[in-house]
Amino acid sequence: MNLARFQSLLVCVVHVFPFIVLFGFMWNLPVLFPVRIDELKCYYVEHPRSSHVENISRVFCDGHYQSPVNLSRNKAKIRSSSPFKLNNYDTCPFAIHMENNGHTVMLKPRQPKMPTLEGGGLKGEYSLVQVHWHWGSDSSRGSEHIIDGRSYPLEMHLVHMATRYENFTDALQSTDHSALAVLAFVYEASSKDNESYECFICSLSQLVDCGKNKTETREDSNCSFPMTNLLNLREFAEISTEFNKAYPEFYRYEGSLTTDTCNEVVSWTVVTKPIPISENQLNIFRKLQNESGSPISDNFRPVQNLGDRILRRYSANNDSRWILSCKRADRRDIA
Ligand SMILES: *[C@@H]1O[C@H](CO)[C@@H](O)[C@H](O)[C@H]1NC(C)=O
Ligand SMILES: *[C@@H]1O[C@H](CO)[C@@H](O)[C@H](O)[C@H]1NC(C)=O
Ligand SMILES: *[C@@H]1O[C@H](CO)[C@@H](O)[C@H](O)[C@H]1NC(C)=O
Ligand SMILES: *[C@@H]1O[C@H](CO)[C@@H](O)[C@H](O)[C@H]1NC(C)=O
Ligand SMILES: *[C@@H]1O[C@H](CO)[C@@H](O)[C@H](O)[C@H]1NC(C)=O
Ligand SMILES: *[C@@H]1O[C@H](CO)[C@@H](O)[C@H](O)[C@H]1NC(C)=O
Ligand SMILES: *[C@@H]1O[C@H](CO)[C@@H](O)[C@H](O)[C@H]1NC(C)=O
Ligand SMILES: *[C@@H]1O[C@H](CO)[C@@H](O)[C@H](O)[C@H]1NC(C)=O
Ligand SMILES: [Zn+2]
Repeated sequence: MNLARFQSLLVCVVHVFPFIVLFGFMWNLPVLFPVRIDELKCYYVEHPRSSHVENISRVFCDGHYQSPVNLSRNKAKIRSSSPFKLNNYDTCPFAIHMENNGHTVMLKPRQPKMPTLEGGGLKGEYSLVQVHWHWGSDSSRGSEHIIDGRSYPLEMHLVHMATRYENFTDALQSTDHSALAVLAFVYEASSKDNESYECFICSLSQLVDCGKNKTETREDSNCSFPMTNLLNLREFAEISTEFNKAYPEFYRYEGSLTTDTCNEVVSWTVVTKPIPISENQLNIFRKLQNESGSPISDNFRPVQNLGDRILRRYSANNDSRWILSCKRADRRDIA
């Protein structure tokens, strides 16, 4: 899977001014050249041979299934879903690759079995591809989604791809509104550092310079962590049960990537309960620099019209015994 190249598709900041189209002609042979385009958008284009750069992009970015959106309780249909089932989220990766690409910081765990997500009203199984963040220059803004009228200082996107797709390109090029599943969390400023984020923040602080600083945190370095840390879940607990208990409510709608070509292939899950994080920890994000040495800030796309899309607000089924009984059944099978 040539994922790395296409992950760069996801990270281009939406509302920055003079821009560049990065033609990832081949993974290791990127050709860089400037073009004049709409000041609101920046495009990473995956088909170098196409001469219709602007049109290709507009087809999606001006579509009717764009993200982010206002998530309002009074516009949502209340539903209950089966619980989420998370696999391999609590496995310690043998390495975690982190990179500041000038638009965001992107994290990819390296582990034999990638974390997966299913249930929670999603169709099928999804595998984690990468994690990245959007933040503001101060705590009054930063999140992409606005939840019941409120902006948050930071938003995390855990990008998953449906395992029914061979690779990320196939998923992006599909017309399937649930080819990708992004699990989004917002954060709120708290007075104390959140310890589950310590290792991550420590690695983040080494990524100030765009492109130059990359970290690969290894299992043997005392500062590797399972993805459960990002979800603020304890490692020792049964992960799916903990998750459903900790985050029983979320919004779901069909939308798009919020960057670059804005492909309308994302089933969004936006968890309503914010993760607490201190101002000091937030400031580490705000110190990260772009290619010209300025702090990356306000790398969020403004809200788009929901149009006639259906917005759902889920209350995960309280009965997470569903998952446990599954495991018991497994054991019975073995015995
Ligand atoms: C984009 O499409 C318009 C008509 O829809 C056409 O006039 C224009 O030449 C196209 N631009 C490019 C770069 O292909
Ligand atoms: C989002 O909600 C705010 C009010 O909270 C409203 O002013 C704004 O127009 C809404 N935007 C969209 C695109 O729905
Ligand atoms: C993605 O998978 C398809 C087959 O489903 C294959 O034709 C294509 O070459 C693959 N693309 C990449 C970039 O690996
Ligand atoms: C860290 O996050 C967890 C889960 O959201 C929360 O229970 C805990 O209180 C936080 N710790 C601090 C110090 O904020
Ligand atoms: C980032 O890398 C540059 C060299 O490429 C180095 O001078 C700088 O100290 C590094 N910053 C951090 C925080 O490690
Ligand atoms: C990890 O921690 C142990 C004990 O705290 C220490 O002996 C070891 O040197 C540390 N390893 C690294 C790579 O920092
Ligand atoms: C870096 O950020 C500054 C301030 O937002 C902006 O003026 C500049 O164009 C950005 N540089 C790049 C390469 O994006
Ligand atoms: C979850 O459980 C609480 C109390 O245990 C109950 O009040 C609530 O209605 C339940 N929610 C759902 C969606 O079942
Ligand atoms: Zn994002």
